Amino acid sequence: MILTKSPISQHDPAGPAPSQSSMLRFARRFGPHFPAIRSGHRLLHRRAPQELVPSSPYYLIDERKLLKNLEIIQQVRELTGAKSVLALKCFSTWSVFGLMRDYLDGTTSSSLLEARLGHEKFGKEVHAYSVGFSRAEVRQVSAFADKVIFNSISQLKRYGHEARGVKLGLRVNPGVSHSHFDLADPARRFSRLGVTDHAALMEVAPQLSGVMFHFNCENDQFMSFAAALDAIGKSYGPVLKKMQWVSLGGGLSFTKDGYPLRQFCRRLKQFSKEFDVQLYLEPGEAVITGCAELVATVLDVVHNEMDIAILDISVEAHMLDHLIYQTSPEINAPGPGRHPVLIAGRSCLAGDVFGTYKLNQRLRPGTIIRLADAAGYTMVKKNWFNGLPMPSICVRRLSGKLDIVRRFSYRDYEESLS
Ligand SMILES: Cc1ncc(COP(=O)(O)O)c(C=O)c1O
Repeated sequence: MILTKSPISQHDPAGPAPSQSSMLRFARRFGPHFPAIRSGHRLLHRRAPQELVPSSPYYLIDERKLLKNLEIIQQVRELTGAKSVLALKCFSTWSVFGLMRDYLDGTTSSSLLEARLGHEKFGKEVHAYSVGFSRAEVRQVSAFADKVIFNSISQLKRYGHEARGVKLGLRVNPGVSHSHFDLADPARRFSRLGVTDHAALMEVAPQLSGVMFHFNCENDQFMSFAAALDAIGKSYGPVLKKMQWVSLGGGLSFTKDGYPLRQFCRRLKQFSKEFDVQLYLEPGEAVITGCAELVATVLDVVHNEMDIAILDISVEAHMLDHLIYQTSPEINAPGPGRHPVLIAGRSCLAGDVFGTYKLNQRLRPGTIIRLADAAGYTMVKKNWFNGLPMPSICVRRLSGKLDIVRRFSYRDYEESLS
C-alpha cells in the first residue's frame, strides 16, 4: 500500500492533495482515524501497473452496464420517435454524460441549478421545470432552456411572459398514477404537483406548446401504464390535440429485463399519432438502474441478539432513499448464504440500518461489501451528516479502465458549511 496523489485534482475544488511528507506529519499528529487522512489523502492503493484502486468507500459506475440501458432507450427512440431526456434529479454525475449524450436527447430538471448543469455539462435539449420558480429564476433559465415548464396556472400567468423566445409547458396532474409509496405518488390527495382543473387548463392552452404528465414511480407493469395512458387520452384529448409536444414524465421501468418493450413502443407510437404530438419520456432510474455499486468496508462487528456489521458508510448520508422508503439495498458481494447479519451504517442515527441479510461468510472488520443499484437518487442526495467521509466516485469505462472521477476531502465538508 502506498500513499499517492489523486489523479483527479483538476476536478477537486479543494485543490491538489498535499505532499506525502506533510500527510505523514499530519497522520502522526492526528492519528490514522482523522477523516482527512482516511478519506482524502490515503485514497489510493496501487494494485497492478497503471490501475489505481480507490480506498473504501466509493460509488462505482460501470459504463458497460450503463450502455445496455442506453441501447434500450435508443431502441425506443428509433421505434417510436419519442425523445428521452435524462431526469437530473435522479442522476447528475456528469463524468458519464459523454457516453449518455449519444443515446439521449437532453436533460430535464427540477431547478435552475439542475437546468444549468444540463445545459453546461450535457448540452442538447434542456427542459426546465420547477415546482415553484421565482421571477429571477425564470429569467435566468430562459437564457438557455428550450422549454420552461410551469407547475401551476398561477406561475404561468405570473412569469410566462418572462420566458421570452422559449416554449412554454405546464405540468398536469391527471389524477391517475402508479406508485408503491404514497410519499412518491404525484396524484396523492392534496398533491401540489400539476394542474388538476380541466377548464382552467383549456383556457390557458393557447399559451402552451406542450404539457407534462409525470404519473409513475418505479412502474414495471406495462398494463397499468397503458391503462393510465388510455385514461389520459380520454380526459385530455381536446387539450392534447392543441399541443406540439407531450411529456409522459419518468418512473417507467422499461429498461428492466422482461419488460414488454415492443408493446410499450407500439402504445407510445399510437398515442403520438392519435394526438399528433412529439412525445417525450423523462427517464431517471430507467437510465442508470443496475449500473452502479456502493463499495464499503466493515469497520466493526458487534453483537446484540444477532451479529451487527458496521460499515464505513451510512444509509442516511449515502443511500438516503432506503431510509425514506424503508427499503433495503441488495448486496452483490458477499453472496447469499447461511450467516445472518444486520448491516448498519456508522452515523449516530439509531435506525441507520441497511437491512438484515444471510451471507455466505461471517463478516469481519475489513470485509468488503458491495451494495447494488447505487446510482439513482444516491449521489444527488448524499450529505455530510456526522461529518462522515464522503464516498469517492469512480467510473469503470467501456474500455475497462477505472477512473476515480471525484474524491472528497475535509475541505469539501468545511465548505459545505459556514
Ligand atoms: C417530473 C419528473 N420527471 C422525471 C422523473 C424521473 O423519474 P424516475 O427516476 O423514477 O424515472 C421524476 C421523478 O420524480 C419526476 O418527478
